[in-house]
Amino acid sequence: MDNLTVVRHPLVQHKLTLMREKATSTAVFRQLLREISNLLAYEITREQEMTTRRIETPMCEMDAPVLAGRKMALVSILRAGNGLLDGILELIPSARVGFVGLYRDEETLKPVQYYYKVPSDLGERLVIVVDPMLATGNSSAAAIDLLKQSGARNIRFLCLLAAPEGVRRMAEAHPDVPVVTAALDEKLNEQGYIVPGLGDAGDRMYGTR
Ligand code: URA
Repeated sequence: MDNLTVVRHPLVQHKLTLMREKATSTAVFRQLLREISNLLAYEITREQEMTTRRIETPMCEMDAPVLAGRKMALVSILRAGNGLLDGILELIPSARVGFVGLYRDEETLKPVQYYYKVPSDLGERLVIVVDPMLATGNSSAAAIDLLKQSGARNIRFLCLLAAPEGVRRMAEAHPDVPVVTAALDEKLNEQGYIVPGLGDAGDRMYGTR
């Protein structure tokens, strides 16, 4: 799974365990998701290009490192992706934000788009697509198809949990898109849920069922 990076940082792993526990409340789940997405944002931007700027400290002048200015866009796959946005935006407040809404047609089993609003200049940005659960990978791959049609060229996918099936689907459909996750779980069950997983991420963050 060359396309996959698992973030094994102890803080990420500890928070993820708390999120998996079924006794964790909606409020705590949301707070943990915000914290963990902050830490994952740190990891996904690790390879950002740097340059230097001449600055003056109280002691002397120096050439100090700064980001090279590559612009970023976050794209949330509705609705669960929204839970990852705030934590990332705390670290990257200037990022633009887009939304992709897809549902599964029960007859064709194919993802159908119901909402699509993204920044107009995606081709000039690093595009970070966020969805907590990479399960079958069908909706993630379809969302990335749409983003590529809108001109996105430099895309990364960020999730909390991934199933091997979803990682393989992404590698087939979009081998150019690196996937960053906090854990690679064992499998999908017959309903398409990740096992051991954490249940339905949207329901757990919004208290619905
Ligand atoms: N979506 C979820 O919310 N949970 C899963 O386990 C799989 C897909």
